[in-house]
Amino acid sequence: MTADEGVRLQKVLAQTGFGSRRVCDNLIAEGRVRVNGEIAELGRRVDADHDVIEVDRVPVSVRPGLVYYLLNKPPGVVTTADDPQGRPTVVQLVPEEPRVFPVGRLDFETEGLLLLTNDGDLTHRLTHPSFGVEKEYLAEVDGEPSPGAVTRLRKGVDLDDGPTAPAKVSVVAPNALRIAIHEGRNRQVRRMCEAVGHPVIRLVRIRIGPIAERSLKPGEWRELTPAEVRSLETAAARR
Ligand code: URA
Repeated sequence: MTADEGVRLQKVLAQTGFGSRRVCDNLIAEGRVRVNGEIAELGRRVDADHDVIEVDRVPVSVRPGLVYYLLNKPPGVVTTADDPQGRPTVVQLVPEEPRVFPVGRLDFETEGLLLLTNDGDLTHRLTHPSFGVEKEYLAEVDGEPSPGAVTRLRKGVDLDDGPTAPAKVSVVAPNALRIAIHEGRNRQVRRMCEAVGHPVIRLVRIRIGPIAERSLKPGEWRELTPAEVRSLETAAARR
């Protein structure tokens, strides 16, 4: 690529949600933007298909063709691309093309926020426990958890695959808890609640890292904004 080919870096940044072109110019001027590891200069042009752009050392996703959907998963839908038993799947609720995959998993009966994307790299970072992206759930439970039960959930409970990490737990109604975890083990919230004697009756995921959305009806989806994709990348870049 020659000096006057490619797209202006500030334009690419503005398109990916960093603010106006002026704001993006300031980011570049402050030395916070790198292209292929080197601090970028004002007026820099990039090849958005190949150059690796970072702001504050966090990669910026500018690759064309990547899509990011936020779905409010209804109960009774499987979180797979294909179900051998022929049950409805989450991928049937979003556009068929380009082909996307769910980011992590919600149980058949669990409801709430689920990301679907064809960005394998972000998927890996959002689901791998070492990146610790927090997910928050609203759990309606059987019975009324005592302060002691809530403390146990907060500190970590023993499950058959090992103790859970400390969780953020608050009581939102006598039989409803808000639980934030960052491990994402299989059926973790259900098993945690069961372990303290309060099986889950209804489970809804209400937040994935920085993404919380209340206006999607069950089965509805929307595309993430570039700023939301960036906020997820930032959350998944912290260890
Ligand atoms: N924890 C669960 O128990 N189920 C889910 O679907 C998600 C988290």
